[in-house]
Amino acid sequence: MIKIIWMSDPHFQNEGTIDGLDPRARLAAAIDHANTHHADADFAVLSGDLVGDDIEGDYTALAEYLANSKLRIYPMVGNNDDRKGFRSQLSLPRTSMSDFVQYSLDTADGTIICLDTHKVGSHAGQFCEVRRAWLDELLRKTSDKPAYIFMHHPPLALGLPKQDEIMLEDGDLFLDLVSQHPNVKHLFMGHVHRPTCGSVRGIPFATIGALSFQAPAPRPAWTWDNFKPAKEAPQYAVAEIANGNLTLQYTQFCEFEFGMES
Ligand SMILES: [Fe+2]
Repeated sequence: MIKIIWMSDPHFQNEGTIDGLDPRARLAAAIDHANTHHADADFAVLSGDLVGDDIEGDYTALAEYLANSKLRIYPMVGNNDDRKGFRSQLSLPRTSMSDFVQYSLDTADGTIICLDTHKVGSHAGQFCEVRRAWLDELLRKTSDKPAYIFMHHPPLALGLPKQDEIMLEDGDLFLDLVSQHPNVKHLFMGHVHRPTCGSVRGIPFATIGALSFQAPAPRPAWTWDNFKPAKEAPQYAVAEIANGNLTLQYTQFCEFEFGMES
């Protein structure tokens, strides 16, 4: 059995808050909760949108928070990330591509694959030919084992109108590729700051709430201009994989008001 703690979208800032919500307090609370209650986990995956605007300062401070975790945390990139800043502070497994933050982790219960869907200068995502070729080869080489894919941007529209505008641009090409590999058993996606689940081309998927702030449900309708985080608590998830079966438990680690400016 393998047990993975899945966290996403910390939007870590070394100072300041996001609509009054403190991303440092929330990341620390999530790490502390996971270390206290899931010390038996094999590792954690942090599926992108790691920092705010201060690339150097945010990654430097974030690296210290991650280093405080006894549980090894594998970081990924999202739209809010910067590959150079990321690589200057965070270490990656040896399997990582050199130009992209894209790597795999071999476990007894399958291959965990962390993709890079970052597109420079855009909130939408990209999964170019180079990254697709790497994934195709990996899935071919590991075709005798189940594969579980973590990615920041969803490759399909989820019925979340504002987030759907900034999904993965080459989603269909990505889905054409993974649907040719029956060993792909599940997709885990960040980016939307809301838990959803479903299946695409027969492959089950899940998204997750953010460590930082939550996006409101699509109704009542909202826009980025009048965006206000939903008054919902942040979450992480616990994934357990055994004998080809996967379960996912969403876990609240603090109250919505936690760490709020008064
Ligand atoms: Fe995000």
